[in-house]
Amino acid sequence: MKPQSLRRAASAILVAASLVIGGAASAHAADGPQPAAADRQAAAEPVLRDLAAAQGIYYGTAVTASKLNGTYGTITGEQFDSITPGNEMKWGSVEATRGSFTWSGADAVVDFAEAHGQRVRGHTLVWHSQLPDWVSNGTWTADTLRTVMTDHIATEAGRYQGRIDHWDVVNEPFNEDGTRRQSVFQTAIGDSYIADALRAARAADPAAKLYVNDYNVEGVNAKSTALYNLVKSLKEQGVPIDGVGLQAHLILGQVPSTLQANIQRFADLDVDVAITELDIRMTVPPTSAQLAQQKAEYKAVTAACVAVARCEGITVWGFTDSDSWIPDFFDGYGAATPYDENFQPKPAYYGIAEALGWVDDGSPDPVGACAVGYAVQSQWNTGFTAQVTVRNTSTTAISGWRLAWSWPAGQSVTQAWNATVTQSGAAVTAANASYNAAIAPGAAVTFGFNGSWSGGNTAPTAFTLNGTACTMS
Ligand code: XIL
Repeated sequence: MKPQSLRRAASAILVAASLVIGGAASAHAADGPQPAAADRQAAAEPVLRDLAAAQGIYYGTAVTASKLNGTYGTITGEQFDSITPGNEMKWGSVEATRGSFTWSGADAVVDFAEAHGQRVRGHTLVWHSQLPDWVSNGTWTADTLRTVMTDHIATEAGRYQGRIDHWDVVNEPFNEDGTRRQSVFQTAIGDSYIADALRAARAADPAAKLYVNDYNVEGVNAKSTALYNLVKSLKEQGVPIDGVGLQAHLILGQVPSTLQANIQRFADLDVDVAITELDIRMTVPPTSAQLAQQKAEYKAVTAACVAVARCEGITVWGFTDSDSWIPDFFDGYGAATPYDENFQPKPAYYGIAEALGWVDDGSPDPVGACAVGYAVQSQWNTGFTAQVTVRNTSTTAISGWRLAWSWPAGQSVTQAWNATVTQSGAAVTAANASYNAAIAPGAAVTFGFNGSWSGGNTAPTAFTLNGTACTMS
């Protein structure tokens, strides 16, 4: 339980607000972190935003504005009490051409948040990346660029004044060795650009908490020490700085052991801390052992935030593997988020819930409950035939199954046997036929289908059975 009484009071207000606005908060949220057994049976799935509120933190996700409908929108609204636009508030998105602003994506995110009783983390006002050419390749003096930068901040933060909870005012100002990154802001304006940006943001939206955000600053190291020294010096100069964001784009097996100590040392400087872009990537396809380890690591990161009073909350950088930047940016890696590509919760999701006080109801651990074999038996110019074997590797009988996967290369199923197969976009679901609904522990069923392909016929890399991730066999 968080020791800070102010924060507890604030969280109680938030819980009350989500009860009224969302209508989805369960009674246990107000009572403390341990849900009553009856509650758990009524709501099989934990609700992260309620659990987080009971711990005095928020749980957020980065979102893509254009996807905020259907299942994606439902999960975003139900599970999270904070959202961050993944791209829509970046300089390149809002002011690609000087003086010409596009707000539709950013507005959509803020409107969605307000309709769902959520906070918004504004991301981001000053960053070297996704910066329009007219800024990054302009010819500037310190004064002209400072004016452009503070005008941009005044316009954007001013537009959303009072509607943004936290702003990532400056993003990624440091190199790995703790020296300043030579962004156009750094080279034209010098070290003081950060203080200038923070002052402009405070003037534009006095209620928003102002953050400096960076990556590889989760543990104690040269880069996080440079950030620490920056915050210390800004505080000494009276520059408005309220918090530091630890992005936390982590690699499986490499969660820094000094995470909690690092959060604590920032807290000791009298600033808030947030984990702003959490994902934990792994090589794909994932094994059940990797997914189990990811669960433990999501749990540990969440617990580290819960343990420090000044840690305000956690944002995952996309809640589903279908909306994650990882496969595009890190070759051979993926599966970094708490939900799979078919919106099924992964073990990581339950790890988060457990760190927030949720108690498993004793049902078998989902890891390793099924194993799937996928084989293309024949393939011709536009078509192929595949066979899928689904083995029950748990110790309980299955009576009725739905196997879900997502096509990696635009394939589609045209005809199936021994299962009813439906497809929506890339997402496929195969449901049992009446005669093969039961799978005893250790037993397997097989079904097949014809499909069409073009370009490539890459095999799916992840399957879920009744929502549980399977291993590949
Ligand atoms: C990423 C987005 O998720 C991608 O869609 C985009 O193509 C690139 O940027 N650090 C940050 C985020 O602060 O803004 C980045 O987001 C991920 C790394």
